[in-house]
Amino acid sequence: KHVALLFGGNSSEHDVSKRSAQNFYQALEATGKYRITVIAIAENGYFIDPVRSKEIMFQADEKSLVDAYMATIDTNNTLARVAALNEIPDIDIFFPVVHGNLGEDGTIQGLFRLLDKPFVGAPLRGHALSFDKVLTKELLTYNNIRNTKYLVVHADQADEITWAQVVSELGNQVFVKAANQGSSVGISRADNEVDFKAALADSFQYDHKVLIEEAVCGPRELEVGVIGNQNPIVSEIGAHHVPGQENGDGWYDYQSKFVDNSAVQFEIPARLPAAVTEEIKSMALSAYKVLDLRGEARMDFLIDENDVPYLGEPNTLPGFTNMSLFKRLWDYSDIDNAKLADLLVQYGFE
Ligand code: DAL
Ligand code: MG
Repeated sequence: KHVALLFGGNSSEHDVSKRSAQNFYQALEATGKYRITVIAIAENGYFIDPVRSKEIMFQADEKSLVDAYMATIDTNNTLARVAALNEIPDIDIFFPVVHGNLGEDGTIQGLFRLLDKPFVGAPLRGHALSFDKVLTKELLTYNNIRNTKYLVVHADQADEITWAQVVSELGNQVFVKAANQGSSVGISRADNEVDFKAALADSFQYDHKVLIEEAVCGPRELEVGVIGNQNPIVSEIGAHHVPGQENGDGWYDYQSKFVDNSAVQFEIPARLPAAVTEEIKSMALSAYKVLDLRGEARMDFLIDENDVPYLGEPNTLPGFTNMSLFKRLWDYSDIDNAKLADLLVQYGFE
């Protein structure tokens, strides 16, 4: 079968996507089963021809390759952005490894549907619901899947919401998050009015809808992978801890996720009471179903000082970099990278 592996995109996670795609490429290759063609999506949104895309994926100078490609196409052509797809006429399945905007919000899945081709991962709807932090929480709450308390602010109410109101509903430590963003971009923590207002203004740069969420006391952060379609399976649970986070001094932000994780303490599998492990796995599976997910997802959890788990968020195109827990969790669950990539392609055909 011929797999078209897509990566990059115009989101703030462009480079993370490249690192995830390198690993999926190698994993697919290791299966010995697939013909793989790579399509890079440049930061300007253009799909780049397969030959240059492969060079881009393995870290060559992206800008000059993109410029060179742009010189070859007629940008007035309506389909210019995706014209590179014509260079792989016999695609059997798309394998998107495009994090964030367009890749993880359902947009690119819409393209695959228009092209009438199977693809790896959740359908458009599952991505769109899961990418919107507000819609996710409304659905979890409606279905009794425990999650943290929250408030929603729309842009036209941005000046009305007061810190006093936030404190009375959520406590005096909150996270402020743009509703539609990934990799901890557009997220800040606030514990006073000045920081809160600044956080709100920052989040509104990314979306017209902002989530304000209570900060759980003395939290531990956990992640679990889920793969499959009708009868999905869960991985072992992993924990990560940024020293100082219990005092509000650090958190698992973009820097510690993808740039330098030397200070982060990982625990795989996480040491948890058996009943809590079971509860987390069962919550992850329920959320997978409620959010209409297929293929793959990573569910992020918090547990408070009494070991009560809260579902933090789903990630429908989890990072697969060497620093990503999702990748390591499956290894611990006896599903190596090649097996995982192979399963994901198979689920895509189902
Ligand atoms: N959004 C990044 C890729 C992650 O959650 O792993
Ligand atoms: Mg995320």
